[in-house]
Amino acid sequence: MESSNINIAAIRKDYTLKSFSESDLLKNPFEQFRVWFTEAIHAEVNEPNAMTLATVKPELEDDCFVFFTNYSSNKGQQIGVNNKVALVFFWPELERQVRIEGIAEKLEEYKSDDYFKSRPMSSQIGAHASPQSLEIENRQYLEDLVVKMEELFSDQPIVRPNFWGGFKVIAHSFEFWQGRSSRLHDRFIFRKSNNEWLRKRLAP
Ligand SMILES: Cc1cc2nc3c(=O)[nH]c(=O)nc-3n(C[C@H](O)[C@H](O)[C@H](O)COP(=O)(O)O)c2cc1C
Repeated sequence: MESSNINIAAIRKDYTLKSFSESDLLKNPFEQFRVWFTEAIHAEVNEPNAMTLATVKPELEDDCFVFFTNYSSNKGQQIGVNNKVALVFFWPELERQVRIEGIAEKLEEYKSDDYFKSRPMSSQIGAHASPQSLEIENRQYLEDLVVKMEELFSDQPIVRPNFWGGFKVIAHSFEFWQGRSSRLHDRFIFRKSNNEWLRKRLAP
């Protein structure tokens, strides 16, 4: 069908799967996140641990969110300048979204080492080879870097490059969003105040 014939404005999904009320809401947002995260896993949603990171032009461990990346990448450099970040988990299969705002800090080196060791060898080589976010000539350039790294580590253990590792996001606010019919969604925000999590319902 010709895309010009598609009335994009009419593309609309009505959310009717679930509701989310005050009585469902747990006191601690991390516990609330764990419940929703577990339900997302059990619902076999696509990539339940995939999240969108927003940095200012940025897993769940203890009480912070951890992700791994190239510290020299655009996001790594932006976090170096302004470490305020926002995360979004969207689970369309459950008509749910969680938004988190917080501060990103470099993860302890030993934890980045441990995680790096747990990655498949090809991903370890990939981390060494890819100058993430840099403009490159073509794919061959990247594949040549991979070959170089494979040769370099052909007779020695692959160690974590110091330009690659984890960030931990210390959250100061969470918003849990449950899609509802006619755009009357359920939204709850948790904000940290004096070490206590305050919960409020937000208008959709
Ligand atoms: C499902 C999914 C998971 C991703 N996971 C990561 C990740 O864990 N670390 C990472 O650096 N990039 C990850 N990426 C790639 C990022 O979207 C992005 O392309 C890359 O981090 C470079 O971003 P930057 O140039 O803004 O720094 C993922 C992409 C997708 C679609």
